[in-house]
Amino acid sequence: MGNCLNSSTRVDNSLSTQNSSGRSNVATSKTSFSSVPSTLTCSTSSNFSAPSYSEKTASTLPTPRTEGEILSSSNLKAFTFSDLRNATRNFRPDSLIGEGGFGYVYKGWIDEQTFAPSRPGSGLVVAVKKLKPEGFQGHKEWLTEVNYLGQLHHPNLVKLIGYCSEGDTRLLVYEFMPKGSLENHLFRRGPEPLPWATRIKVAIGAAKGLSFLNDESQIIYRDVKASNILLDPDFNAKLSDFGLAKDGPTGDRTHVSTRVMGTHGYAAPEYIATGRLSAKADVYSFGVVLLELLTGRRALDKTKVGTEQNLVEWAKPYLGDKRKLYRIMDTRLEGKYSKKGAHELGILAQQCIGNDAKLRPRMSDVLAALEKLQDSKSSTLQPQDDQVRTSSIARRSPMRNPRSPLRPASCRRSPLPSYQRSHEH
Ligand SMILES: Nc1ncnc2c1ncn2[C@@H]1O[C@H](COP(=O)(O)OP(=O)(O)OP(=O)(O)O)[C@@H](O)[C@H]1O
Ligand SMILES: [Mg+2]
Repeated sequence: MGNCLNSSTRVDNSLSTQNSSGRSNVATSKTSFSSVPSTLTCSTSSNFSAPSYSEKTASTLPTPRTEGEILSSSNLKAFTFSDLRNATRNFRPDSLIGEGGFGYVYKGWIDEQTFAPSRPGSGLVVAVKKLKPEGFQGHKEWLTEVNYLGQLHHPNLVKLIGYCSEGDTRLLVYEFMPKGSLENHLFRRGPEPLPWATRIKVAIGAAKGLSFLNDESQIIYRDVKASNILLDPDFNAKLSDFGLAKDGPTGDRTHVSTRVMGTHGYAAPEYIATGRLSAKADVYSFGVVLLELLTGRRALDKTKVGTEQNLVEWAKPYLGDKRKLYRIMDTRLEGKYSKKGAHELGILAQQCIGNDAKLRPRMSDVLAALEKLQDSKSSTLQPQDDQVRTSSIARRSPMRNPRSPLRPASCRRSPLPSYQRSHEH
């Protein structure tokens, strides 16, 4: 299950007009389900078209496709609702493994060969995401996900097995990721905090997935955040949730103009301000995830005071300074990290969250830097003198400041009524 409501509030600003300066008039609107015109509900959506990608030639130009084409051409299994009800034991509450803005995620079992529902504990374990009836936007994101994940395959992207579309009901069936999301590991009071080397491993896995999308496939993912980085039993990271993915600019164009979608705390400032989207917006969000890995703090945390609420603002002054960095490091690491590695990661995060999008590295550069960091043993513990002394962290870290309460033990998320929806034009 997910984040604090405050840390997961989605950005969804309607881009209604563009003025002559090219700057978008960004208006925030919230469209409730009931206000969605009936012509835009899920059942009448066959004229929606989405871009397509060939699995083998991910870098070829997309061609628009209709819903019918997307569903019929994918190699995905079309499940019936009854199949998925049986696979999840009638969506029993004890099968629930997560909840996001768009719906609930259940654990289920299907036969490995036939994909028919099987007995709990036998066959293939799957995660079944059941979308709330959210009208056109929910359907659009569902179809976008089917379109992209139906064709793009990579070890660091979660595998979509199939979908269900019956009446207004939409479901997605994924491979089950036994270790859940990075968010669960970083921000929940579990028995073991994520060790430093595992954090680097997760960052590398996510960077591989993102680099594949941005640099090899010209796709902007638009939803980089800890809850969308899922983990297999060996902490290999896979990106999930492709509902916001978008084709990147083609030719000489530097960006695509679109309404602003994403999650507060992760979305790049220039994208929020102008609606101009480039792959560098993903790089920014990835930088925020790096900060979360370093600090163990959420991108946005309304339980904190002032600047500390926003991770980027709070952490920025410490990132480039080797002597100050330990002050923002995750105290749950208890000093068990390489000082050199943390410094390198801090510098990399600083570059990713830079204000000038053009100066941010590409994801392939970020990946190379992370792999170098891992190879140089900066991802593992160094001799004692290279580690930060726990006692000094405990004494001087601002996280011990009485004005900055420790992270809450758990922060139940609401069904995200704060999703701000509107129609895309
Ligand atoms: N394939 C999966 N395997 C295991 N757990 C999963 C899987 N997909 C999702 N989950 C769990 O369900 C949670 C909710 O996922 P979901 O994508 O619906 O929402 P979210 O990413 O938390 O938030 P948002 O809707 O704002 O993107 C995840 O954080 C994760 O813990
Ligand atoms: Mg998600």
